[in-house]
Amino acid sequence: MKVGIVGAGLVGATAAYALTLRDSCSEVVLVDQDTERARAEALDIAHASPISHGARVSSGDYPDLSGSRVVMIAAGANQKPGEGRLELLDRNAAIFRMVIPQVAQHAPGAVLLIATNPVDALTDLTVRLAPDHAVMGSGTVLDSARLRYLIAQRARVDATNVHAYVLGEHGDSEVIAWSTATVAGLPVAEFMRARGLPWTPEIRAEIEAGTRDAAASIIGGKRATYYGIGAALARITERVLGDRRAVLTVSAPTPEYGVSLSVPRIVASGGIEASILPQLTDDEKAALERSAAVLRETLARVE
Ligand code: 2OP
Repeated sequence: MKVGIVGAGLVGATAAYALTLRDSCSEVVLVDQDTERARAEALDIAHASPISHGARVSSGDYPDLSGSRVVMIAAGANQKPGEGRLELLDRNAAIFRMVIPQVAQHAPGAVLLIATNPVDALTDLTVRLAPDHAVMGSGTVLDSARLRYLIAQRARVDATNVHAYVLGEHGDSEVIAWSTATVAGLPVAEFMRARGLPWTPEIRAEIEAGTRDAAASIIGGKRATYYGIGAALARITERVLGDRRAVLTVSAPTPEYGVSLSVPRIVASGGIEASILPQLTDDEKAALERSAAVLRETLARVE
């Protein structure tokens, strides 16, 4: 149950920490071109290991990824305040062209889990650079969690009892698929009515903005996001390791849209076992088409 992480910045290190605290795996190896940073992060996280579940945490080089069941890629630059995810594309695509062939060589059987932004385009690029690997991007798993958190606050229930999906791009064109959202088995509006709670177009718009603009808001305050994505990456990884067939909105090439984007997918030990295109309203379908068009345009830039 070994997991490799390439990129020991805030996202990679937080994912390693989350894996350690959640008892997701038996071994974590951090690889970074800044070897001193990787060494220090691994040592700091290793000190949490005896007081959590005892996973072995170390740093190393690409050959040390050998035997990993999952390799996360969190290498690259992150957004500066005011910068969009797509602006990172050129910088991070160049990094991926160096990193992915080495990962593919040293971890031949691993599922590759892409976290670096823009995650959808970099998922497509990874599929091209490592054609023999199962590849998925963290996609909108985090956005779906943000949406569920915000609905749960309004519904006054535990967020784990809210089902709701964000589809399409992990970014500004993402689609809040209200038609997929339920609380206690009821569509959100019906649940709110049954509980006597307010539910207005303004509240809906507030939740949509809170979901879509969450990263920008956090980056504005502390220059980076890492706890939410770190937990999302640990969750996806443990679903692969445990062959759990979990439904998660990971990003992957989607033939219907000609690009990598997020829809609910069944995640198991071999990667993505199946993709489910939910039944959407006409407006949601049109929004998903627009999101795919944005992503196709972005992808054309890396060709
Ligand atoms: C996030 O959504 C920045 O993509 C990162 O937190």
